[in-house]
Amino acid sequence: MSHSRVPRPRRFLVCEPRHFAVQYAINPWMHQDTQVDVDLAQGQWAELIRAYRAHDHVVDSVEPVAGLPDMVFAANSALVVAGRVFGSLFHAPQRRPESTAYETWFKGAGFDVHRPESVCEGEGDLVPVGGYVLAGTGFRTTRAAHQEVQEFFGVPTVSLQLVDPYFYHLDTALFALDDGPEANIAYYPEAFSPGSREVLRRLFPDAVIATHEDAMAFGLNSVSDGRHVFISPRAEALAGRLSRHGYVPVPVDLSEFHKAGGGIKCCTQEIRS
Ligand code: ARG
Repeated sequence: MSHSRVPRPRRFLVCEPRHFAVQYAINPWMHQDTQVDVDLAQGQWAELIRAYRAHDHVVDSVEPVAGLPDMVFAANSALVVAGRVFGSLFHAPQRRPESTAYETWFKGAGFDVHRPESVCEGEGDLVPVGGYVLAGTGFRTTRAAHQEVQEFFGVPTVSLQLVDPYFYHLDTALFALDDGPEANIAYYPEAFSPGSREVLRRLFPDAVIATHEDAMAFGLNSVSDGRHVFISPRAEALAGRLSRHGYVPVPVDLSEFHKAGGGIKCCTQEIRS
C-alpha cells in the first residue's frame, strides 16, 4: 500500500486575476458575458498561492495586463524544461497578445524565449513526464508544434488526440503525478481517441484513472509535487484514489475560474531548472 512519497520543491509562475473576466467564448465552459465575481476569484487564487508556499514551493508572478482576461491561465504561456523556454502562439486572436506579456517576464527573469511557428498553448497541451513530452492536439496546439517541441528539447514528443471539446487542452484530461523513476500520470481515458488511449495504457500501465465526474470537476487540472496533489475539492473519487496510491490531496477550490474553462493547473506555469 502507501509508501512514503517524497515532494520535490517547484518554482511556479502565476498571474493575479485582477482583470479576469469571461468576455468571449472559446471553449464550451465559457458563455459570453458571464458575470465573474472578481473578489471571489482573487480570494480563491490567493488560497492557491498560500497552499503552494505552505508546501515550500517558490511562486513568482507576472504583472496582469488590462484587456487580457485569460492571462491568469499562466500554464498556456510556455513549456519550460531545463531552464529553456518554448513560448506560445495562441489559437484565439483574443489571447495572442499574452505571449508577448509572458515573453517580457521571461526575458526579465534571464531566460531566452523560443517563439513557436505553429499554434502552441504551452503546458496547457504539453506535459513532460517519464522521459517524454506528452502533447495534446485536436482543439488548440497543432501536431506541427509537437514536432517543433521535439526538435527544441530533443525529447520524444508523443502526440495524443483529444476528442471531447470539454477537454480541449491536455491539462484538462491528464496530469503528471511524478517524474523521474516514479513517473506516473492520472487521466480520463474518454477524452482521448482510441489509439491515444492505447498509447497512454502502454506508456503508463499503472496510471490513476479518473471518472467523468472527476474530469468535469477539473480534477485532472491538478498540480502534483510528487507527494501533495493540489486538486479541486469537487473531484472526490479521484482524491480517494490518489490517497490510496500514497499521495496527499490538498484541496483548493477555483470554482470561479471554471466559468472560463480553467482550474488549478491552468493557473500555474512550472519553471523547471
Ligand atoms: N479561457 C481559457 C481558454 O479557453 C482557459 C485556458 C485554460 N488553461 C489551461 N491550461 N487549460 O483558452
